[in-house]
Amino acid sequence: MGEESQKKGLSRRKFIQGVGTGVIGSAVLPHVIKAQHETRAADEDTTGQLLDVKVNGKRYRVEIDPQTTLAEFLRDELNLTGTKIICNQGECGGCTVLLNDKAVYSCHMLALDANGKEVVTIEGLMNGEVIHPLQKAFLEKDGYQCGFCTPGQIMAAYALLKENPHPTKEEVMFNMSGNICRCGAYPKIVDSVLYAAEQQWSKKS
Ligand code: FES
Ligand code: FES
Repeated sequence: MGEESQKKGLSRRKFIQGVGTGVIGSAVLPHVIKAQHETRAADEDTTGQLLDVKVNGKRYRVEIDPQTTLAEFLRDELNLTGTKIICNQGECGGCTVLLNDKAVYSCHMLALDANGKEVVTIEGLMNGEVIHPLQKAFLEKDGYQCGFCTPGQIMAAYALLKENPHPTKEEVMFNMSGNICRCGAYPKIVDSVLYAAEQQWSKKS
């Protein structure tokens, strides 16, 4: 079998499980947590499987196609479209959400791997119609241009500030390095995160 046909024969599930998050987790972006994959018996079974997950504080028990990524589940099933799918291959961070308080690329993990866990999306930061102090910091410091990458940037910053409420500029730059901004708004993104930290955002959230 040639290389091309081998690639075509590689299922999405096998790709995600075998290659994708492993590369992100251990080599490229050490601060983005590698999704923990559970062993499931019927590896290629495409019949629905039960997903039991908490998203933004609300529990969902739904049957899904096992090849559904977490990003697809959030956007297509829950209509949480603040999570962006930009590269869809674990390279840009546009789809960043929190999984048990750690930043993950939701395009690069299966929804079933969130079973029994807690997911927070950009929508989860809002308090009704009131934006989160971290979102406010991005607004006040112009931490965006077109805004396409912004939900992912904010979720990466949220994960960082939960763990380290007073990061240095270098720590912000390192921890946000997995989030690409095609507009190049990096200086103001970093300013926004540092400003949010100064404002002691966590006490207000
Ligand atoms: S859309 Fe997931 S990393 Fe780019
Ligand atoms: S603000 Fe446009 S891609 Fe980041």
